Amino acid sequence: MRNFSFYNPTRILFGAGQIASLAQHIPAGSRVLVCHGGGSILQNGVWQEVEQALQGHRISRFAGIEANPQYASLLRGVAQARSEECDFILAVGGGSVIDGSKFIAAASVYPGDPCDLLDGTRIDRALPLGCVLTLPATGSESNGSGVLSHAARQQRLAFASPRLFPRFAILDPCTTFSLPPRQTGNGVVDTFVHTLEQYLAGSGHVPLQDRCAEGLLLTLIEEGPKALVNPEDYAVRANLMWCASQALNGLLGCGVAQDWSSHRIGHELTMLYHLDHAQTLAIILPALLAERREAKRAKLLQYAQRVWGLHGPAEQRIDAAIAATEGFFRRMGLATRLSAHGLDAEVVPEVLAQLQRHGITALGEQQEIDLATCERILLRAL
Ligand code: NZQ
Ligand code: ZN
Repeated sequence: MRNFSFYNPTRILFGAGQIASLAQHIPAGSRVLVCHGGGSILQNGVWQEVEQALQGHRISRFAGIEANPQYASLLRGVAQARSEECDFILAVGGGSVIDGSKFIAAASVYPGDPCDLLDGTRIDRALPLGCVLTLPATGSESNGSGVLSHAARQQRLAFASPRLFPRFAILDPCTTFSLPPRQTGNGVVDTFVHTLEQYLAGSGHVPLQDRCAEGLLLTLIEEGPKALVNPEDYAVRANLMWCASQALNGLLGCGVAQDWSSHRIGHELTMLYHLDHAQTLAIILPALLAERREAKRAKLLQYAQRVWGLHGPAEQRIDAAIAATEGFFRRMGLATRLSAHGLDAEVVPEVLAQLQRHGITALGEQQEIDLATCERILLRAL
C-alpha cells in the first residue's frame, strides 16, 4: 500500500427531509449566494424547499451555471457574489453547479485576475460553500475538486484545493426522482468509472480498497437499472446517491495507484463535440481496457471473477469482462461507440491535437499512455 494523507471535512446530511435543516448549517446573518443551473430545481420543487428553509437568511439567486460550466458564466457569478457582498455560497444542483460554485467561492475572494486560479495559482482562500446535491455522479459534493470549460482556450480545466471541500452536503434522494433517464444513466456510469479508475490501476496488496471498490461496482450493477425502471424508488435512489459520494470522496483512492486517462481523453471529447461527461467515459473506458489489457491484466482477471462472476481461460475472461462492462453501460442507456454520436475517424486527429496542445502526452497510472496509445484507443472506440 502506498503512503497517503486522507482529509475530508465535509459533513454529509443524508436522507429525505434534510433540506429543511439547511439554516442550521449556514451561519446566522450570512448573505448567501444560491447558485443553480438551467431550471430543474424550479420544476421539481427543490428550489421551493431551499427558499423555505432559508427564510431567515438574506439570499441572492444566481441561475447561470450550465452543464459543463463555462468560465465566462462563472465570472458573472463572481461579479454577483461581490456586488451583493455574499459571504456564503450554496450550490443546488449536480456536479456542474457544485464545481462552478467552488470556482465562484474561490474567485470572489481572490484579489487578482480569476484566470490566475486556472493557471496553477494556489487557491488558499474561498468563501464557505455548502451544497444540495440533485444528481449523484461526480462526487463533487464531498471533494475539493472542480472542472470548468474555457471556450476561448478550447480547454477543460481542473482545479482543486482543500479550501474547496463543501462545509456540508445535503443528499436527499427524493431530489433525484425527477432525473431524466439520460442523467440517471450518466450518474451511474460516471460513478462506475470513478471506481474503476482507482481499482483497475494495479496497486499490489490492497484487499480492503479492492473490496470497497467491488462493493460499489456490484451495487451499481444491481441498483442502477432499477432506477431507470422505477425513478421514484427511494431505496434505489438512496443507494445510488451514497455510491456516487463514496466513489470520489477520496477514501477509495487511499494507498492505491490511479489511472484517470479515460477522464482526460473524455474531457477533450466534451470540449470538442459537447458530449456529456459520462457519455465520453462510456465510449473511452471499454476501448482503453482493451488496449491496456496487459498492463491491467491481474486486476482485470480479479474484476472479471469477483464483479462479473466470470471463470475460465484468462484471455476469454478478460474479453468477457470488458464486454460485460460495455453491456452494462448500454443497459444504462449510454452508447459505447463514437459512431453512435455521429462521430467518425476524423475526430481522431482532432482529439490528438487537443491533447498535444494541452500537454497531455503521458497518461495512466504509469504515465505510459502516450499519444500513439491514445490514437489506438480512439480507433478502437469508433
Ligand atoms: O441545469 P439544470 O436545470 O439543473 O439541469 C441539469 C443539467 O441539465 C440536470 N439535472 C440535475 N439535477 C436534476 C436535473 N434534472 C432533473 N432533475 C434533477 N434532480 O442534469 C443536467 C446535467 O447536470 P450536470 O451537473 O452537468 O451533471 P453531472 O452531475 O454529471 O456533472 C458533470 C460535470 O461534473 C464534472 C464534469 O466534467 C462535468 O463538468 N466532474 C466533476 C468532478 C469533480 N468535481 O470531482 C469529477 C467528475 O469526473 C467530473 O469531471
Ligand atoms: Zn467523472
